[in-house]
Amino acid sequence: MSATSAPPSGKFGSRIGFILAAAGSAIGLGNIWRFPYTTGEYGGAAFVLVYLGFVVLIGVPVLLAELSIGRASGKNPVGAFRELDPGTGKGWTWVGGLGVVTGFGILSFYSVIAGWTLSYLGRALSGTFASTVSPEESGRIFGEIISSPLETVGMAAAFLLLTAVVVRGGVSGGIERASKVLMPVFFVILVVLAARALTLPGGGEGLRFLFSPDFSKLSGEAVMSALGQALFSLSLGMGAMITYGSYLEKKEGLGMAGVSVAVFDTGIAILAGLIIFPALFSVGAKPSAGPGLVFVAMPAIFHSMPLGQAFGAAFYALLAVAALTSTISLLEVVVAYFVGERGWKRERAVWAVTGACLLLAIPSALSQGAVDGLGKFAFEQSFLDLMNIIFGNVSLSLGALLIALFAGWRWGAQKALDEMNGLPLGGVWALAIKVLCPIAIGGVMIYILVTGNFF
Ligand code: PFF
Repeated sequence: MSATSAPPSGKFGSRIGFILAAAGSAIGLGNIWRFPYTTGEYGGAAFVLVYLGFVVLIGVPVLLAELSIGRASGKNPVGAFRELDPGTGKGWTWVGGLGVVTGFGILSFYSVIAGWTLSYLGRALSGTFASTVSPEESGRIFGEIISSPLETVGMAAAFLLLTAVVVRGGVSGGIERASKVLMPVFFVILVVLAARALTLPGGGEGLRFLFSPDFSKLSGEAVMSALGQALFSLSLGMGAMITYGSYLEKKEGLGMAGVSVAVFDTGIAILAGLIIFPALFSVGAKPSAGPGLVFVAMPAIFHSMPLGQAFGAAFYALLAVAALTSTISLLEVVVAYFVGERGWKRERAVWAVTGACLLLAIPSALSQGAVDGLGKFAFEQSFLDLMNIIFGNVSLSLGALLIALFAGWRWGAQKALDEMNGLPLGGVWALAIKVLCPIAIGGVMIYILVTGNFF
């Protein structure tokens, strides 16, 4: 959560402004909503270890590659590949195009989940959770929210509107300044909630689930999901960090900035795990509940702590802000494309993209109980889950693979390293981006294609 992006001609005012914006893009529902439920679905600690491995071995190198591509070109993802390609750039602009489409796709389902946080905020404020004890009861409230067409579509629309208003203004000193306060507040609230969750009776079981690995549970699908989660959580594989890198001053070194973003982001995900799993196990709920997990588990914690209602309201408010700084970066990628490549006015691009995205968000919003046919849309998955897998996993993985190949081989690792201004262990980065990332990402993708065990 944090500062928004600059307009195409703008630059981040300071190094910390940039780190906050990039961390703001990275930290979001991916950490608090997606990480716990994916970990729950794939059996816990073994999944977490693979995820952490991907963050270090693939996430950090690709993050640095995206930032260098962005800053060296000063352009949106499509323009960036054209600018830096030593050839005509025709072939590689498609990688940027894939990123723009992916950003649009992610924004469409992400805003639905973000809308749920608004619904929960309203209920927390009105005291609905004060009397909620059992997971059944909070599950019932969750079901009520997601199966109401008016509420889910309405809240997704409200969230998209909020995002559009910020992105329309370009750099928002307000959000940037507010984030410098809100980010630490969010962190403190998470720590307090973790302290409460960890002392709940039976919470130790949750820790074991999170930290003691059982590798027999690790399927190919789990490995693919861990890769998708690492990329999703760090906002990689679709050009968000290329776009943010393009707004960064030339003099800034990229190494520390990139590593700080990865450390913040991963730390917040683990912290979320430390809250959710002890809470779940203490009330005897199942970790494999799917996308509703966090929404069903959290009220149990608020109920069992002093000032629970106030904590609940603060938690959902800050989660909504965290989601907002991520949706800003998603919308910014698509808008930067229309402004930079198609010559559209920023205002027009923002409203056209937001409107189109709302249309695509509707089937996702209605797929969680409001309209039956969308609940099992294809491959036994709901429309929302399908969007999540296609754009949030497969497409990001493909994007990251192509970005690594471009940075390592086509543009050239040395040029990227020059752009980073003295990266310590530059040789290790070059090896990772040229060899390790393509083999690991390509390997996971080929395995999934061959075994077909993805859906
Ligand atoms: N990283 C965000 C999260 O974890 O919530 C989601 C996201 C934002 C993914 C921006 C991709 C992106 F470009």
